[in-house]
Amino acid sequence: MQITLKNEQDIARMRIAGQLASEVLDYIAPFVRAGVTTAELDRLCHVYMREQQQTIPAPLNYQPSGYPPYPKATCISVNDVICHGIPGDKKLKNGDILNIDITVIKNGYFGDTSRMFIVGEGSILAKRLVNTTYECMWLGIHQVRPGARLGDIGHAIAQRAHAHGYSVVREYCGHGIGTVFHEAPQVLHYGRPGTGLELKAGMIFTIEPMINAGGHETRTMSDRWTVKTRDRSLSAQWEHTVLVTPSGYEVLTVSTGSPQPPALFHSV
Ligand code: MF3
Ligand code: CO
Ligand code: CO
Repeated sequence: MQITLKNEQDIARMRIAGQLASEVLDYIAPFVRAGVTTAELDRLCHVYMREQQQTIPAPLNYQPSGYPPYPKATCISVNDVICHGIPGDKKLKNGDILNIDITVIKNGYFGDTSRMFIVGEGSILAKRLVNTTYECMWLGIHQVRPGARLGDIGHAIAQRAHAHGYSVVREYCGHGIGTVFHEAPQVLHYGRPGTGLELKAGMIFTIEPMINAGGHETRTMSDRWTVKTRDRSLSAQWEHTVLVTPSGYEVLTVSTGSPQPPALFHSV
């Protein structure tokens, strides 16, 4: 598969799409509370995209080969759901952890980002998993610069996850993105340093580690989209869309409500 290098005009448009995707998460954050259904969160996001942003939700009716059309505007993955959770009528309750994954299309360009939320007071395990997964994503992002390799990203992520006794999901990965939702390269969240594709300025891809408190094995539900941990352990995920710049990286999916990078990166 060909990897597209983005030009300045592509990059300007990807910044806009990325910011808009992140702004949907800013908008929905205050609605994430005990008692709300994930279908209601999805509906609010969809209305916001359509009415406030004039963006298109990329997931809606998305149909990769072998899949049925995806039925909703967002993916909302609660507790032991790893990814591709379909919003539905279940109400959130205190202690739930959830990932809201937003992909918008603006002027033909895709911005893809997700964040974790904890409903009320989470357990110590839940908070550790969510925060460690956030560090994993940022450790991966921090590897990005021309000359680095995809294996450097995967290794940085997996090393931190394993240090906490967590496992890394292998079946789903980050991806190139631009005027296509999922394009080359595949960005695995594990790997060997110094191996894999060499990064070049102008590449844009997502980094979106899925980290399980228990084993890495997955199980896909009968809806053919929802992916859960096989052992029913909790799973967390964060996602950014990242540009390789001449000097390093630029995170494209940022907005005023984006959480700060983790404390590990605060000093310089
Ligand atoms: N946004 C997801 C990703 O990060 C893909 C969702 S595909 C869908 O790649 F159809 F489930 F929405
Ligand atoms: Co993605
Ligand atoms: Co996504």
